[in-house]
Amino acid sequence: MNKSDAYNLKYHITPPYGLLNDPNGLAFFNHQYHVFYQWNPKGTEHKHKCWGHVVSSDLVHWQRKSVALEPSEWYDKDGIYSGGGLVHNEKLYLFYTGNVTRDDGVKESYQCAAISEDGEYFQKTGPLFEHPKGYTRHVRDPKVWGDQNGNWWMIVGAQSEDLTGDTLIYKSKDLSNWKCQGSFFEHNSEFGYMWECPDIINFSENDVFVFSPQGLPEVGEYCRNPNQSGYIVGKLSEIGRFNGNLSDFKELDRGFDFYAPQSFKVNDRIIMFGWMSAMNEEAERAVPTIQEGWIHALTLPREIVLSNGVLYQKPLRELQLLRLDGMHYNGEIQKNSVWQLPSLQVELIINFSMLTANFTMKVRDAVQIDYDREQNSLTVWRTNWLTNQREYRKATLNNRLTEIQMFIESSSLEIFANEGEEVFSLRYFLEDTEQRSVLLEAGDNEGEVRIYQLQECAG
Ligand code: FRU
Repeated sequence: MNKSDAYNLKYHITPPYGLLNDPNGLAFFNHQYHVFYQWNPKGTEHKHKCWGHVVSSDLVHWQRKSVALEPSEWYDKDGIYSGGGLVHNEKLYLFYTGNVTRDDGVKESYQCAAISEDGEYFQKTGPLFEHPKGYTRHVRDPKVWGDQNGNWWMIVGAQSEDLTGDTLIYKSKDLSNWKCQGSFFEHNSEFGYMWECPDIINFSENDVFVFSPQGLPEVGEYCRNPNQSGYIVGKLSEIGRFNGNLSDFKELDRGFDFYAPQSFKVNDRIIMFGWMSAMNEEAERAVPTIQEGWIHALTLPREIVLSNGVLYQKPLRELQLLRLDGMHYNGEIQKNSVWQLPSLQVELIINFSMLTANFTMKVRDAVQIDYDREQNSLTVWRTNWLTNQREYRKATLNNRLTEIQMFIESSSLEIFANEGEEVFSLRYFLEDTEQRSVLLEAGDNEGEVRIYQLQECAG
């Protein structure tokens, strides 16, 4: 089955066929960026998980590699789940969770490693340690880093026996013998029933713990997706505890479709990818690309910066390499404007010099963005493809809105406000590929609009 132009994403990482979910094993190795992802090559359900693999020299043009990890051993025979990557001694290490369903039906999980010298073929090394006591079988998604004292640390997402989410931390001197140091947090307060995909980002002042807690209640405009991904700012101690003056949990992305992000650091830049989906099962089964034999995509890479306790997620500067020669449109904001997009691969930037009124923007008859000046809030509307109902997500900005940057594809939209102060990622499905109008009812606002046509370079 072929991917149709109506839905195919041409500058995002998608699976060649089958189902994609979390980004995994992010690493820069042998002069190339490696991105792995959860992949079911056999169908569009959450089964038979392997690690798909793409490489790039610039983080925007990707080349597909053969499957990197697939079930082959007793400890991973029923699926290779998520984990991180690490480069050490000229080798690429992948840490992952092996899943097993025993003959008696009991499910088990093992934290494992696989090592490669060429970045292509991986040698598995088997389970790294025993399953921790006091935790259910839901222990997964190892992420490993090294400190300046020659220690290696691993955090794994976990569910304790009282069915609350947690993160465990392990320590090693040699990347193969690991010792459990207990919970990553000194005081565990109840926060969801399972924490998936833990990650830590080190900044000079503070550290940031990123994770995907399941089962948080919806509160006002917050936590409106089935599962959330977000962060807490604090301090990583020398004994592997996350403490200090802990901030509140903040969602990373305020759109409909963002989950299980992972970051890596290259030359002092922190780069993050997420999975562009946070749908419930019913909505997922109704995604129209399933008819074409594939489902889901990763987000574009974002550069992560911590400023005044807030993680800014800026579109990676390399994304400018995607811009085709010449700007498609460059002009002043009018009261009412309609632009015809040159293709379904577009970047659109609005810089406001004076923002005195509310405005509304309609992208391809599919998504609407409303700005409320009094609240300084953005509300993003789309039509749910399962229920046909309009639904929204809303975020209030801390700083006055000055810029909106949008990456439009045939079936995805990523909206960055104020250089990543808030981001909305979402999928939408519109059959009519000729429907390419973007409408801005701008009121008396002043500013500039630029539209770039982007390269089709993947998929
Ligand atoms: C997050 C997750 C991970 C798990 C993987 C399985 O989306 O559930 O916890 O390792 O997906 O595909």
